[in-house]
Amino acid sequence: MPGAKKVIGVLTGGGDCPGINAVIRAVAKAAILHRGWQVIGFRDGYAGLVLRESMELTNRTVSGILNTGGTILGTSNKANPFRWAEQQPDGELSFSDRSREVAAYCEELGLAALVCIGGDGTLSIAKGLCDMGIPAVGIPKTIDNDLSGTDVTFGHDSAVATATNAIDKLHTTAESHHRVMVVEVMGRYAGWLALASGIAGGGDIILIPEIPFEMEKVCRAVLDRADRGKLFSIVVVAEGAMPAGGKIVIQQMVPDSPDPIRLGGIGKLVANQIENATNFETRVTVLGHVQRGGAPTAFDRILATKFGVGAIDLIEEGKYGQMACLRGNEIGSVSIDAAVEKLKLVPLDGELIETARRVGTSFGD
Ligand code: F6P
Repeated sequence: MPGAKKVIGVLTGGGDCPGINAVIRAVAKAAILHRGWQVIGFRDGYAGLVLRESMELTNRTVSGILNTGGTILGTSNKANPFRWAEQQPDGELSFSDRSREVAAYCEELGLAALVCIGGDGTLSIAKGLCDMGIPAVGIPKTIDNDLSGTDVTFGHDSAVATATNAIDKLHTTAESHHRVMVVEVMGRYAGWLALASGIAGGGDIILIPEIPFEMEKVCRAVLDRADRGKLFSIVVVAEGAMPAGGKIVIQQMVPDSPDPIRLGGIGKLVANQIENATNFETRVTVLGHVQRGGAPTAFDRILATKFGVGAIDLIEEGKYGQMACLRGNEIGSVSIDAAVEKLKLVPLDGELIETARRVGTSFGD
């Protein structure tokens, strides 16, 4: 239709994290103010596409959200149009493919493109929609920083800041009471969050999934510190860390989720063993979702804004199936396929690990 406004959609999937609203704002503002497009936000991730729940995003709707946590659109880490879960009267879950209904809805809305803000789960679904002919682009979001193809995801810096702040506070009790304080941080199967907050917070021992640890060496590090007159230690443990030859600790299985394994519990195991082996009173703090909450850091606000604008450029250039990414200081793009192909883990020969080792941090290896 001549003169008709181009309509684009935006959704946020997976876990919430600081900076999502800043991205939504940037996508909407860059589309509305700069291009004159119309923007529709889908509620609760892909659920909004399946259940036809959406809202128009205007300049006014996205005003004042740059520094707010969470997502004004809501999110879901379970909604998957290709494997839509529904509970049956007997309590059992049944799964069905609702992707054709999603395609029909997008067609009815006259959607020219869909911006999917999320981690590997959300972006894998975006790729599936793209393959069905729904033009989608991605924006990398996760506190875990485990997406390939981008130097960093937005949300990670804010989570690192929160975890660092917590470690700083735990230091005072550790030192005053001569205790070992174990801090369990999130990050799934990657150690980025534990490593960054551990270095920033001065963790004495950092345990990450990429380096299976030996309990004996962890305890040795605590006792060595005591020999040097340091009667306290801070142990930062990634939720996905595991002992050499041991297993990852699972808190719960979530059958209706594309990511059915809920990690958690390694902190308590490590703390118990340290206390038994060293006689130091040892306490554990699980930071949990505190790491996903609150206002984004200035770094994340800027990155989120750049990603939002970058996604609009991808649409303008017709680069569907691509994800905005950060390389150095520049926003670029990478295929969603490449971004989700494998998790980006902490490289063992990378600068961060080497830096930590050089200042005496133990990885329990
Ligand atoms: O991917 C982000 C993340 O916070 C992970 O670090 C963590 O393992 C997971 O999500 C927790 O998910 P949920 O909020 O569903 O328990």
